[in-house]
Amino acid sequence: MKKNVGAVVGLYPTPVTIIGTVIDSRVNWINIAHVGIIALDRISISMHKSHYSNQGLTKGNLVSVNLVSEKMLAAADYVGMVSGAKVDKSKVFEYESGSDGEVPLIKDSPLVMECRVVDNYKTESHDHFILKVEHTHVEEENLNSSGKIDYEKVRPILFEMPTRTYLKTGDVVGKCWSEGKNYK
Ligand SMILES: Cc1cc2nc3c(=O)[nH]c(=O)nc-3n(C[C@H](O)[C@H](O)[C@H](O)COP(=O)(O)O)c2cc1C
Repeated sequence: MKKNVGAVVGLYPTPVTIIGTVIDSRVNWINIAHVGIIALDRISISMHKSHYSNQGLTKGNLVSVNLVSEKMLAAADYVGMVSGAKVDKSKVFEYESGSDGEVPLIKDSPLVMECRVVDNYKTESHDHFILKVEHTHVEEENLNSSGKIDYEKVRPILFEMPTRTYLKTGDVVGKCWSEGKNYK
């Protein structure tokens, strides 16, 4: 029998991302796990208005959205614990510059998206930035023989809020738009 645990958001785990911005000519990183897909070319990230990073997400700007691998975990957690308002986080990850020569892309990340800030749906406490994906960079070893991203290889780290825990992604259990054919 199920127990009603209250009005708890149950939509976890979500992928952990590191958002890379440039603020006052300095790179800043933030850990953001409240992310969503709103179209095949658009994602949303939900960022509390108090964060320093939000200054780097003005309309038209390019930012990076970096997935996290297990070996990045300590650094990824760290940039989610301290603020760029007080600490220089620019050297936490090694990075290279993206298509505009500025947006920082994490070298160790298995998959990085360069995204354009196209909108901001503001609520009382949060900025919900709408990002258009412009380029996606994937380690070649994480592509399958058809050139598609292989998430069994990318293995992005996930996050869940109720116990504030990181999880690993698992193995393939079935093929979409195919398993349904076995339904009787
Ligand atoms: C695992 C994890 C997930 C987080 N997810 C979010 C999130 O989705 N939205 C948010 O506003 N803050 C989130 N945070 C908090 C920010 O990453 C954190 O407050 C950060 O230090 C702000 O950095 P800044 O002030 O340099 O921008 C998360 C932190 C951690 C550790």
